[in-house]
Amino acid sequence: MSQVEIRLAMGADLPALRDLQERSLRVLGRQRYTATQLEAFITRIGTMDDYLVSDRTYLLAEMAGEILGCGGWTTRLPSYARHAQDKVHVPESSRATVRSVFVEPLAARRGIGRRIMAAVEDALRREGFQTAELGATENGCAFYRSVGYQAVGPFQVELGKGITMPFTRMRKVLVPANSDDRPSPSLKSA
Ligand SMILES: CC(C)(COP(=O)(O)OP(=O)(O)OC[C@H]1O[C@@H](n2cnc3c(N)ncnc32)[C@H](O)[C@@H]1OP(=O)(O)O)[C@@H](O)C(=O)NCCC(=O)NCCS
Repeated sequence: MSQVEIRLAMGADLPALRDLQERSLRVLGRQRYTATQLEAFITRIGTMDDYLVSDRTYLLAEMAGEILGCGGWTTRLPSYARHAQDKVHVPESSRATVRSVFVEPLAARRGIGRRIMAAVEDALRREGFQTAELGATENGCAFYRSVGYQAVGPFQVELGKGITMPFTRMRKVLVPANSDDRPSPSLKSA
């Protein structure tokens, strides 16, 4: 995957990003959710808060101009948190949440998610964050475990009409990168 490049997402990328995110959730999310849950989530909450792009905290992976994956971070309250039954999400400037990590289904299991997470965590370290948190889809838990996140506990998101969707809160302590043996990532700023 040497030709895959990571860059900041721009406003002009939004339609393609949303298209990829919804396709990713519909296809890969079916491992652990029903179509009813996934459609309710996409309709009622959506796959991404647009402020991630305008805040310049959202990255995408592309190859030959084609977007293959995306993901970002924020200290703002995620939209899904407003619908979470446990209400434990509180916006805090010291707390970063990894957000909206999606990979094109045809490009799954080729290390793109891992590349995106590494770039997101590098950015968080540069911003001075020592931990990263996220609300993992059930189908995403094994992936997040593989990149060092540990489960904190489950939570449910209410999607109306009696539909709920389970997620798992996960957390990782961000070990400072060793500047001697890790080149600093060069984000192509758009
Ligand atoms: C979760 C997701 C981002 C993973 O992206 P990916 O590019 O396929 O992941 P990678 O190829 O980097 O996988 C890295 C490792 O994670 C683990 N992993 C990834 N997908 C997995 C799966 N479906 N089941 C079990 N382990 C998995 C494996 O250990 C994998 O290493 P391996 O392929 O060498 O065994 C992708 O499946 C996705 O977009 N899912 C739908 C959207 C979603 O649920 N996103 C999470 C939102 S919180």
